[in-house]
Amino acid sequence: MAKATPETTSAADFLPARRSYASLVKAASHCEGCPLYKRATQTVFGEGPKTARAILIGEQPGDEEDLAGHPFVGPAGRYLDKCLVEAGIDRTDVYVTNAVKHFKWTPRGKRRLHGKPNSRELAACRPWLLAEIELIEPELLVLLGASAAQSLLGSKFRVTRQRGQLLKVDYAPWALATYHPSAILRAPDEANRARMKAEFTADLKIVAKQLKRAS
Ligand code: URA
Ligand code: SF4
Repeated sequence: MAKATPETTSAADFLPARRSYASLVKAASHCEGCPLYKRATQTVFGEGPKTARAILIGEQPGDEEDLAGHPFVGPAGRYLDKCLVEAGIDRTDVYVTNAVKHFKWTPRGKRRLHGKPNSRELAACRPWLLAEIELIEPELLVLLGASAAQSLLGSKFRVTRQRGQLLKVDYAPWALATYHPSAILRAPDEANRARMKAEFTADLKIVAKQLKRAS
C-alpha cells in the first residue's frame, strides 16, 4: 500500500540552514508548509534593501502579486505607494512583505476571489516572516491590517484599538499597526474612505518621524 506523504504544518520544515536573502527566497519557492501553495502560481517573498530600517507587512499576495511574483504591485500596492509618498517615505527605502507568502483564493466565475488567511495559515507561514525580520533587523515593523498584527502580536490584538501607537514588541524595537490599504479602498463610503486615508497617512508620518529619530 502506498504510504501517504506526511502533511507538513509549518514553513519551519523548509527553512534553509544558512540564512541569506537568496537562500530564503529559494527555499520559500518550494515551501509546502500549508495547503496554500497548491492553488497559487508562486511564492511571493518580501523585497527591499537589506539595510531597510522598516519592514511593512501586509496580509498575503493578491491576484496581481501572485502572477507577478512581487509584493504590493497591484491596486493596494499602488495606493500604498501614494500614501507613502504623502508621508515622506520612499518605498525603495523600506522592505515590503506579507504575513502569508501564497495567494489564497477561491474561483468566482472567471475571477479569483481573494480569501483571508486563517490562524493556522498565519502560524504556518510565520517562520518566513521571522526569518525576514531576523535578516533585516529593522528598527520598526509596520503592521498593515489585522492579519499582520495577528501573526506577530496574537489574535487578541485589535488594530482598531491600537492603531497608530508605537508599540514595544519582541521582534523589533518598535511596531506600529495601522489599516491595510485594501481596507481603505473598500471603505463603505467616501466619508469613511477620507477619514481612514487621513488616519493611515498620519500613521505613516509617525513611522517617518520615528525613522528620522532613530537614525
Ligand atoms: N495585499 C497584501 O496584503 N499584500 C500584497 O502584496 C498585495 C495586496
Ligand atoms: Fe509555505 Fe507560507 Fe506558502 Fe503556506 S503560505 S505554503 S507556509 S510559503
